Amino acid sequence: MEQQFGTGRLVLVEGDITTIAADAIGNAANAALAGGGGVDGAIHRAGGPEIMAELRSRHSYGTPAGTAVSTGAGALPARWVIHAVGPVWRGGDHGEPVQLAGAYRSALSIAAELGARTLTLPAISAGAYGYPLDDAARIAVATVADSLRAGAPLEWVTFVLFSPRALAAFEHALLAFR
Ligand code: APR
Repeated sequence: MEQQFGTGRLVLVEGDITTIAADAIGNAANAALAGGGGVDGAIHRAGGPEIMAELRSRHSYGTPAGTAVSTGAGALPARWVIHAVGPVWRGGDHGEPVQLAGAYRSALSIAAELGARTLTLPAISAGAYGYPLDDAARIAVATVADSLRAGAPLEWVTFVLFSPRALAAFEHALLAFR
């Protein structure tokens, strides 16, 4: 499913984000930028050790939830990886919605600064960090759609969802977003 917002397209696909070519690939990282499981683990496995080496040398202090940093992409089909840190779900009244939107906004603005024309993104915080999927999808779609409408210089932004259930949640969010 996809929809045009401004001059950019918001696209939803099911798949493994490490196998889809884009100028920039989004990662769901932790604040320590220490690597881990989930999409973070997949990106480091597929991209190779140079990604972690660059995180250690350029971003050794990590980055807080709601922000992102970029590195090269190693062996991945991309020029950059944008490591965005979402919030850990703690019930919803600890600023999680604002931090999740911030993680996506940071990733979009870094992509624009880098000159990326295409960007893939995972469902940040919707895995190990426990963010309820439907709420995470609604925030993800709204944040990206608003940025594209506001003129973010991206040809497309594709959410790569790792299960039919996640894809369905994002499709529902996109249909509800007008
Ligand atoms: N491609 C696309 N999406 C993926 C992939 C993949 N290869 N692997 C997992 N996902 C999906 C998950 O199914 C989930 O929907 O990414 C979404 C985010 O889940 P996590 O990767 O667990 O990320 P998050 O919930 O943000 O938790 C981040 O987990 O892996 C650690 O180091 C990471 O500490 C950090 C925390």
